[in-house]
Amino acid sequence: MTLEAALRTAVGSEHVLLDRDLRASYETDWTGRFTGPSRAVVRPAGTAQVARVLAACADARVAVVVQGGRTGLVGGSVPPPGPPENAPVVLLTTRMTELTDVSQVTRQVTAGAGVTLAALTGHARAAGLDFGVDLAARDSATVGGMVATNAGGIRVLRHGSMRDQVAGVEAALVDGRIISRLDGLAKDNTGYDISHLLAGSEGTLAVLTRLRLRLVPAERERAVALIAVRGTAEAVELLAALRAQLPGVSAAELCFPAGLALVAKVIGARAPLEGTGGAYVLVEIAGEPDPVDDLLAALERCEQVLDAIVASSAADRAQLWALRERHTEAINSVGVPVKLDVSVPLARLAELVDRLPDAVATVEPAARLVLFGHLAEANLHVNVLRADDDGEAATVAVLSLVSSLGGSISSEHGIGRAKARWLDLSRSQAEIEVMRSIKAAFDPLGLLNPGVILPAEDAGASVQTLSRR
Ligand code: MLT
Ligand code: ZN
Repeated sequence: MTLEAALRTAVGSEHVLLDRDLRASYETDWTGRFTGPSRAVVRPAGTAQVARVLAACADARVAVVVQGGRTGLVGGSVPPPGPPENAPVVLLTTRMTELTDVSQVTRQVTAGAGVTLAALTGHARAAGLDFGVDLAARDSATVGGMVATNAGGIRVLRHGSMRDQVAGVEAALVDGRIISRLDGLAKDNTGYDISHLLAGSEGTLAVLTRLRLRLVPAERERAVALIAVRGTAEAVELLAALRAQLPGVSAAELCFPAGLALVAKVIGARAPLEGTGGAYVLVEIAGEPDPVDDLLAALERCEQVLDAIVASSAADRAQLWALRERHTEAINSVGVPVKLDVSVPLARLAELVDRLPDAVATVEPAARLVLFGHLAEANLHVNVLRADDDGEAATVAVLSLVSSLGGSISSEHGIGRAKARWLDLSRSQAEIEVMRSIKAAFDPLGLLNPGVILPAEDAGASVQTLSRR
């Protein structure tokens, strides 16, 4: 039997896309930077079908790339470039949209890998609870992809990243075996935690099909402010001052004049607080009763505040959030950026922001830099526009600076294919060897998302001049 026939048997003919035009939209990522050919696109409906697809691909020695909402930013969910005869099968999780009833006792729910974040959040809220992770791509991002990449987003300071929400997973292994830990035990110390290992494994170890997820108490009242400060150092100080006064800080985001001006242009508005600050902090406070008066009083006491807008209605809050959340789209509207997603110790964030322009200008004099990010985690999204085609010089300049400051080359977007060559800037050789052993244990033939996270063995030392850990 051909692989195509085996796939049809596994999921039904209508869910095996072979036509070139039908496959095309699954072969290029959201940014438009990463693209490669697929052999087929398959849409399994549940764990058993995923297992059959994987077993068929393993028999045929054909690679599998797992794809959810295709909102990833590091090229991890689309095929790599290469000749069509080596093209992988793309496995879509989007038909796996089951959501169980919320358990009020355990505050957990089971979600299919293809459930969108917005659907999960709506489901949790309808049950009087909430989901702890939120991010701008909520309408498309799937929870399977978010667990697979250990997504972060705007509420990490309150509830942690995606891995922290995982109480258990169901997954299909490359040979068609299934592992299922959906009982949601609050305590379970029976050896290695495979669920948490699969979180952040970016589809390289197994295919996540169902997730047992923790929910959090709903916080109905929120206050939001956009605050102008002199620069990044003052933004960091302001966050500490606000956290000391307000127990309910639920988000703290960092923007700069260039990014805010770009977003304002795209949405057809004037940039707020224009000309007032060198950096801006968008802060959100959750709590009951309405925390807006507490926020106003706290801001009065903070010497770092140059000026501020405090939202007084839900519409105003949404407008302030749009200024932050629409950065990605605004940047992409003026060009395809080289996207880097880094973190450093919070005490070194200001130094990173100050040194980045020169570091990039040295290798890319015409580049335009747009920075924004998640302040509490010192997670900076570095977008380099007008870099040369592959963006390698800018990437090396930024990642080597980050590494020299003791930071991470991927704070929340993952390694994907985009950063695999630079993994050793953030991980020691011993760690990479252990990772390779884990990969070999799950996927001995190297068929699951090949080239994602772990660089090909011979591409390891691509940046010889950099100091590595
Ligand atoms: C965000 O924080 O908005 C996302 O990580 C997207 C991005 O970095 O462009
Ligand atoms: Zn982010």
